[in-house]
Amino acid sequence: MKTDGFVEKATRDAIAGNSSGSFDLSGELPLKRQPFMYSLTKQVVVDKKRFKEQHLVAAYSEDPESDAYKILRTQVQQRAKIQGWNTIMVTSPRPRSGKTVSAVNLALSMAQEFHQTVMLVDCDLAKQGIHTLLGYESNRGIADHLLENIPLSDLIVCPGISKLTVISGGKTIGGSTELLGSAKMGQLVAEMKNRYQNRYIIFDVPSLLEGADAIAFLPYVDAVLMVVESGKTSMTDCTTAVQLVPQEKLLGCVLNRHAAISR
Ligand SMILES: Nc1ncnc2c1ncn2[C@@H]1O[C@H](COP(=O)(O)OP(=O)(O)OP(=O)(O)O)[C@@H](O)[C@H]1O
Ligand SMILES: [Mg+2]
Repeated sequence: MKTDGFVEKATRDAIAGNSSGSFDLSGELPLKRQPFMYSLTKQVVVDKKRFKEQHLVAAYSEDPESDAYKILRTQVQQRAKIQGWNTIMVTSPRPRSGKTVSAVNLALSMAQEFHQTVMLVDCDLAKQGIHTLLGYESNRGIADHLLENIPLSDLIVCPGISKLTVISGGKTIGGSTELLGSAKMGQLVAEMKNRYQNRYIIFDVPSLLEGADAIAFLPYVDAVLMVVESGKTSMTDCTTAVQLVPQEKLLGCVLNRHAAISR
C-alpha cells in the first residue's frame, strides 16, 4: 500500500520523545505523570483552563467526574483487546448528542494509560470541532490530506498532553460523504490501524441519521461507539441507528448527560 510516510515519521517522533523542555504540563493536569512526549510533531498550545467548562473532565484523572470515562475506557479496551480493534468511530443517531465531547474525553482518558498512545481524528468535515473544544486554532485537517495530498505528518499535532496526537481543523467542506467513503480514506484508516502498535485511533464522525457520512465511513473502522443523550435521544432513533451498524462492529452505547441520582 502506498503511503506518504507519515507513520514512519510519527513513529520516529515517538521514539525521539521525552526530551526535556518539549512542553510542560506544570501541574495543571494529572496527565503530567506520563513521560512519553512527541518532540518533533508540531505542538500546539491548548487552553487547559477551559477544559472543565468544556466538559473535558477526563483530563483530571484524580477528579471523581473523570471516573465515568475511566469506566468507559476500560470497557472499550476490554472489548477492543479481545477483538483486535484499534480504530473506533464515535457517532450518534442525531446531532448535538455529545459525540465530540465524548470522543475527546475518551481519548484523554486513554492517553493516561502508560502502555498505549491515542490519535484523535476529526472526521466531522462539516463541523471540525475538536480543535475548538481543545482550545487551539487550526486551519488544516484530514480533508487537506484527502483533497490536496498534504502529508499527514504536517497535519498531526500534539496538544501538550502526553501520548495524545490530534488531526483536527481546516475549512468545512462539501462532498464530505464522498471523501469519507473514498478509497483513499479507507487506505488511510488501514494504514493507521496496521502500522501503530498499542495505539487507538478515535474518529469523531457525524451522526448516523443525518446525511450519509457516517455510513460511508463505517466500513473502514473496526468498531462503533454510539453516543445517545439521556432524556433526548428517542428510542426509535436509537434503534434505527443501531440497526445501521453491523452487529459485529457495535462496541456499545454511551449514555451522555445522564444526571446521577443522588441517594
Ligand atoms: N456530558 C456533558 N455534560 C454537559 N454538557 C455536554 C456534555 N456533552 C456534551 N455537552 C454539550 O452539549 C453540546 C453538544 O456537544 P458536542 O458538540 O460534543 O455534541 P456533538 O454530538 O458532537 O454535536 P454535533 O452533532 O454538532 O457535532 C455542547 O455544547 C457540549 O458542551
Ligand atoms: Mg461534534
